[in-house]
Amino acid sequence: MSFQHIRISRFGGPEVLELVEEPAVPEPGVGEVRIKVLAAGTGFTDVFIRNGRYPDFKGPLPFTPGYELVGIVEKIGPGVTSLREGETVADLCVVGGYTQYAIRPAQFLVAVPDGVDPAEAVCIPLAYLTAFQMLTRYRKLAPGAKILVIGASGTVGTALLDLANHFGLRSIGTCSAVNLSIVKGYGAKAIDYKAGDFVRAVRKLTAKRKGGRGVDIVFDAIGGAHFKRSFACLARGGLLVGYGAQTMAIGRASLISAGIGLLRLNVWSAFRFLHGGRNAVFYSITARRKQKPEEFKTDMVTLFDLLRAGAIHPVVIDRLPLSAARDVHKRIERGGLGGKIVLVPWAAT
Ligand SMILES: NC(=O)c1ccc[n+]([C@@H]2O[C@H](COP(=O)([O-])OP(=O)(O)OC[C@H]3O[C@@H](n4cnc5c(N)ncnc54)[C@H](OP(=O)(O)O)[C@@H]3O)[C@@H](O)[C@H]2O)c1
Repeated sequence: MSFQHIRISRFGGPEVLELVEEPAVPEPGVGEVRIKVLAAGTGFTDVFIRNGRYPDFKGPLPFTPGYELVGIVEKIGPGVTSLREGETVADLCVVGGYTQYAIRPAQFLVAVPDGVDPAEAVCIPLAYLTAFQMLTRYRKLAPGAKILVIGASGTVGTALLDLANHFGLRSIGTCSAVNLSIVKGYGAKAIDYKAGDFVRAVRKLTAKRKGGRGVDIVFDAIGGAHFKRSFACLARGGLLVGYGAQTMAIGRASLISAGIGLLRLNVWSAFRFLHGGRNAVFYSITARRKQKPEEFKTDMVTLFDLLRAGAIHPVVIDRLPLSAARDVHKRIERGGLGGKIVLVPWAAT
């Protein structure tokens, strides 16, 4: 039986995303399963991988993009005992999601509870897990703690705001003017980062805080020199969590500038006693999963429970067939989506 997937044969713009048909569905090998994919998440990290700038994936070419998927285990390979056929699972695959069938190692697959919409479930492995771990794994933030989300209108940004509401935190978010209403929709204070100096705006918003102005934690995926501005928004004892290098990803900053940004985080962390106890870390979902595979699974299960209970609310703005992949990437690059576009590989093209 033939099947369709998206193939990238060279790094580049959206035009390198090709819909291709393979003559036969592959068989799972030892420790693997075959998944019939019901939903494939799309997002900025796929664009980052597609243009060849993503540090953790440089090929080999050709490959199928797609950082996360949800689907049904259709066939189990030799040696797999933890899963059963017919079960719905989620995977943070990094590449390989934009396809009707995927062969995946069973090791990191997490069961998706019955009754959960696959398109909403596929928002969990990358955006919500990143947000959840950054919010809970470094600090115990008490209800009422103040967070600053840079890029609050993006998929990770909105997941941070959604989870912050769940935990009773108070949020400030930066975004473009066109997205202010998205950020305010989460009850956050919204700052248009293009209209002025957001550091000054954050200080103004927190000027009357007990214990001094500034926020308790900042999340920043812009990277490079931007980390310095985010660090300047922290209250005494606060924490900057860097988790990206977006200006480098879109070619607006060099690799060196991104590297200096990372170095800064290390220096601030080592010399935090010189900065009023302000600390900094870098979060990487794949590095952390490698170090702590059980924590990854525990956190995924927690998030699926929250999703099933209606306690978190991923925003799916479109469900489109694989043939729409190029247009989807163009839309992601334009920005301002305010939610996730999900590819539904079995939808009619
Ligand atoms: N380290 C990890 O483990 C990890 C995990 C997941 C994602 N990431 C990274 O996190 C970043 C965000 O991912 P995403 O999926 O949320 O992307 P996204 O949905 O495209 O959102 C990015 C947001 O950043 C905003 N933005 C762009 N330039 C900005 C600036 N100078 N100041 C403030 N906001 C700015 C945009 O807001 P406006 O459109 O409103 O301007 C956009 O909504 C990407 O670089 C991704 O690779 C890292």
